[in-house]
Amino acid sequence: MSGPVELAGPDLAQGVPIAEIPEGELRAYDIPSGWVVVTHDERRLFAVSETCTGNGCALADGTFDDRSDRLLCAACESVFDAETGEPLEGPARDPLAVFTAREVDGWVEISAEPVG
Ligand code: FES
Repeated sequence: MSGPVELAGPDLAQGVPIAEIPEGELRAYDIPSGWVVVTHDERRLFAVSETCTGNGCALADGTFDDRSDRLLCAACESVFDAETGEPLEGPARDPLAVFTAREVDGWVEISAEPVG
């Protein structure tokens, strides 16, 4: 039986400084349930699974439109709602897993497991 999973990134249960995630940019983190991509607009934080449901590419390579809160996959240009994870355009048909994200005293905390 294999031992505990070695996480490659910061412990998002402990949080990362929000300054590490510039508004409108995407950052990927390794958490117990896999990789997540985190972003935010001026009002809200978003965290969804980092693997595109279209063809499995990394969403961290894509872009975030902070006016419409939409994530664009750089590979085949699927568009997802950053809040619900729902695919809105493009070849992706399945939604992304959504994680709870909150800012506490300048630190971003993400749930270890997806919600909903
Ligand atoms: S891998 Fe994301 S749309 Fe194709």
